[in-house]
Amino acid sequence: MRELAGRVAVVTGAASGIGRALARALAQAGMRIVAADVDEAGLAQTIDGLDGVAVRTDVSERREVLALADRAWAAYGAVHVVCNNAGVALWGGLEAATHRDWRWVLGVNLWGVIHGVEAFVPRMIAQQSEGHVVNTASMAGLIASQGLGVYNTSKYAVVGLSETLVKDLRPYGIGVSVLCPMGVATRIRDSERGRPPALRNEGAAAAAPVELIGRTLSPEPVAAMVVDAIRRNRFYIIPHEESLEAIRRRFQRIEEAIRDREPA
Ligand SMILES: NC(=O)c1ccc[n+]([C@@H]2O[C@H](COP(=O)([O-])OP(=O)(O)OC[C@H]3O[C@@H](n4cnc5c(N)ncnc54)[C@H](O)[C@@H]3O)[C@@H](O)[C@H]2O)c1
Repeated sequence: MRELAGRVAVVTGAASGIGRALARALAQAGMRIVAADVDEAGLAQTIDGLDGVAVRTDVSERREVLALADRAWAAYGAVHVVCNNAGVALWGGLEAATHRDWRWVLGVNLWGVIHGVEAFVPRMIAQQSEGHVVNTASMAGLIASQGLGVYNTSKYAVVGLSETLVKDLRPYGIGVSVLCPMGVATRIRDSERGRPPALRNEGAAAAAPVELIGRTLSPEPVAAMVVDAIRRNRFYIIPHEESLEAIRRRFQRIEEAIRDREPA
């Protein structure tokens, strides 16, 4: 999508971090913004001074994302860019993950993206104008770091969904990108702040975040890369060049397994 000015972008997880930077960068490019999040105070700060609306939305609830789409079309009559960006992280070995951990993280990170696809894509197709979907995954969707298993599972699924969606939507002139950063300086390490009471663990304290390899970027250059990828219709958005070594090692292991497949 070369022309962004005057068009409409929906951004979830827009109250903080990457989502806030994305909303601002897309507004800077002349887009009208529909900013969604569970954090209404943060949303108000994001939208302040922008041409846009804030809509409280829990992306893990399908009906709330359908209502978000209704609000977007009611406000602006069209949606051109959808950034399924809301996400939460938790740390700890899979052997200790609780059912509530799985429900919470997959509910936001995976079902949030699925709901975004369900609510927006058919209407974007029906609208018959060019469009773009950006799904925020993570380098954790391409490399599985120890101690991040629940999160990795959700992000691998978002990568798989996106790698298919880009093919499925090509005939309709709707582009897809998947954002896969390593560390970005946001409030992700304090994700527990937004965990719904019904999904909180009883007693046990949350495990401490694992240290990530690579640099910690600020959200603004990451958002600028997303805007560029929308304009140039680029699928993978990999902000950290230091990802390359880790990805190479993964594919080397896969390659070795293929070469080594004959039983000894
Ligand atoms: N920060 C990093 O290092 C990093 C790296 C790779 C990927 N990511 C991904 O980037 C995305 C944005 O995270 P961030 O780093 O900006 O963190 P952040 O915590 O600063 O922002 C995440 C936002 O999502 C919102 N949110 C949480 N649950 C929600 C729900 N159910 N419905 C709607 N909104 C909800 C939060 O309120 C918050 O405003 C996430 O998908 C995250 O997994 C982050």
